[in-house]
Amino acid sequence: MPGFELIGEEEKKEILDVLSRGVLFRYEFDSQRKGIYKVREFENRFAQFCGSKYSLAVSSGTAALKCALSALGVGPGDEVITQGFTFVATWEAIFDTGAVPVFGEIDDTFCLDPDDLEAKITPRTRAIIPVHMCGGQARIDRIIYIANKHKIPVIEDTAQACGASLKGKYLGTFGAMGTFSFDSVKTITTGEGGMIVTDDHELYIRASEYHDHGHDHNPELPRGLEKRNFMGFNYRMMELQGALGLAQLEKLQSIILPRQRQNKARLKEALQKIDGITFRHLPDPEGDSATFLMFFLPTQEKAKAFNIVLQEEGAGAINWYENYWHYYAQWEHLLEGKTVFRSGYPFRDERGNIRCSFKPDALPKTADILSRSLSIPINIFMDDQIPSFIKAFEKASKVL
Ligand SMILES: Cc1ncc(COP(=O)(O)O)c(C=O)c1O
Repeated sequence: MPGFELIGEEEKKEILDVLSRGVLFRYEFDSQRKGIYKVREFENRFAQFCGSKYSLAVSSGTAALKCALSALGVGPGDEVITQGFTFVATWEAIFDTGAVPVFGEIDDTFCLDPDDLEAKITPRTRAIIPVHMCGGQARIDRIIYIANKHKIPVIEDTAQACGASLKGKYLGTFGAMGTFSFDSVKTITTGEGGMIVTDDHELYIRASEYHDHGHDHNPELPRGLEKRNFMGFNYRMMELQGALGLAQLEKLQSIILPRQRQNKARLKEALQKIDGITFRHLPDPEGDSATFLMFFLPTQEKAKAFNIVLQEEGAGAINWYENYWHYYAQWEHLLEGKTVFRSGYPFRDERGNIRCSFKPDALPKTADILSRSLSIPINIFMDDQIPSFIKAFEKASKVL
């Protein structure tokens, strides 16, 4: 997920342009900024790129999730369904609204399993957050169909799949809202940052007000005299990040996606020759953003043995089953109900009664998929490493 590999002259130029006027804030300073609004311009170009009507830049991908949930009015007493293979941010944002996360299984796309999603819908389900993990697509058509049937809005967590599409439509634009991250390891990066996209004007306005302390953004009034429709918070993006976003977005389609796809294809071609290896299901291989090559081994033991050889050859893969940040059964703070609050909230209420609890073995299908799969992160500049990966695959094939 390599936007950071391309920080260069274009990004420097954009940053210096902001510094030359000294306006770092996305709002106000109208005369000093000489008509230049970098965050606003980044929002406009991002919306244009995705084909969405509105976009709102925020301070992180986590903030994007929180603002999207808040715009939908999700809060205490509500449940939000997401998946047990995602970054912790997805369910942190759910808890932060006062709602409770419900975890669904993943399927061979490594994203939310539509059948399990449907089984987990209750009268309390107020939103569904499928996560397009590791650059590829969830079965988003089926997820949206199920969500519509139950009249529940979908927020697509597209933090890891910026630029990926399904049959020509960009991920993030299928649900009521889509969220993106531009943190240090994402496909395009602004250091920290995020984006929300939506076609719904009301949701856009609510997210926009919420992310800026509730400012109603009345164009007739100076900022200090604006009113509030509800309370909000500060999740604003600043001009320097907007400037970086503009430079990075330019590179997404021209450099990042083609290079990633090319590198991934070379590695996949080599792996395809090995009996016993199968690949992640991609609902639309052409729209894959190609940030990871994910493949299955016949058993967990074989996956481990295969990876030991890759590691010995300096070409180790990620086994998400053992990853502390992305897999449900490894989230000990969630499973043990660890929290900073004296009351034990959000796991307990203020009287000490249990609000929610999570069992480590609740997602057997996810465990099976993650335990026998390996993932290789794809970079832009990995030409020199590809031959050693291919050699390592050949060596590792002997353990199968
Ligand atoms: C799936 C997913 N959602 C949300 C986030 C949060 O993004 P950020 O780090 O910008 O807060 C991440 C970041 O890694 C992520 O991978």
